[in-house]
Amino acid sequence: MIRRILAIETSCDDTSVAFLDHEGKVLRMLSQSQDDNHRPFGGVVPEIAGRNHSVHLLNLIEKITLLEGVQLNDIDAIAVTNRPGLVASLIVGIVTAKALAQSLAIPLIGVNHLEGHIVAPFLKDDDYQPSFGFDEPNVTLAVSGGHSSIYLVHKWADYTILGSTLDDAAGEAFDKFGKMLGLGFPGGVLVDRHAKLGNPKAFDFPRSMIREKNLMMSFSGLKAAGQRLLETMTNEDKQKNANDLCASYQQAIIDILIAKLDLAVQQTKVKKVVITGGVSANSGLRKAVDEWSQKRRISYMIPPLKYCTDNAAMIGLAGLWKLQNGITSELSMGPSPTSYETDFKL
Ligand code: KG4
Ligand code: ZN
Repeated sequence: MIRRILAIETSCDDTSVAFLDHEGKVLRMLSQSQDDNHRPFGGVVPEIAGRNHSVHLLNLIEKITLLEGVQLNDIDAIAVTNRPGLVASLIVGIVTAKALAQSLAIPLIGVNHLEGHIVAPFLKDDDYQPSFGFDEPNVTLAVSGGHSSIYLVHKWADYTILGSTLDDAAGEAFDKFGKMLGLGFPGGVLVDRHAKLGNPKAFDFPRSMIREKNLMMSFSGLKAAGQRLLETMTNEDKQKNANDLCASYQQAIIDILIAKLDLAVQQTKVKKVVITGGVSANSGLRKAVDEWSQKRRISYMIPPLKYCTDNAAMIGLAGLWKLQNGITSELSMGPSPTSYETDFKL
């Protein structure tokens, strides 16, 4: 029996490690943000991200074993994100996981980062229990800094992509607007904070493709409209109107996401919905999903904030389920900036 699986996530800028038990319960998770390293550049710099993973990862593994009161040979398997992501970042996690797995002679399991986000709401810990199981179909909206997609999750390892963004991800639209407005980095959470104090009807932003009867999304028009508007404003005007600007811009993103979610539920007739990925931390989106779900009589789950943004626990759960289904990876496994076609059905 698996006593504990060690999970490693280094696909972007957060370094994260976690221990899960054989039932997918998170025993402990430790993460190290790199926000301070990337803030001067206004965005994630891949080479700096990779460099800092190499600084933090082994320290985090040492710390988590100490805190858990275990030795390296008390680990029975290692799960690690292998795609999609920044290659300079993925390499650090993969090479570390391979070296540990080989020296400890335990299974290595490569995990697609997006599968991690899909299973994140099904994690368990002392404070959180999912409200429905992974054994019944659900519609998953996965919205992060690099991806925005809607999946029909039939059952484990059976994920069909119903629609995706044609251009930018929702998180990218949040981050760029925050940057253009001079709020700082990372933009999403700062736009969220200002939006709480603003009027969502103060400014008119486009909602691309909202009426099209398909599940494709687009956020680049919104981003460009934001840029055009901000270019006409003085710094003083931007500051004075920051709350209203953020509330109106955020509302456009929320309206698009809710419209597509609504269409996905109508098309699939599935009554269970999951919202996951960094943007699911957005307080306006969480409120809008709650209101929409009550109107439509849909059960929904959004993971706690620590499991919304990038984290190793979700990689551990996806890895554990693969291992329990007999899937492990070879030591020749490498990183990839994109998912493989075989990872998801179109
Ligand atoms: O899942 P994640 O941590 O990393 C990726 O896989 O991309 O998502 C990061 C994204 C960033 O774009 C960040 O700005 C956004 O999630 N985000 C938010 C909020 N918290 C994080 N966007 C809007 N509101 C938030 N509260
Ligand atoms: Zn992510």
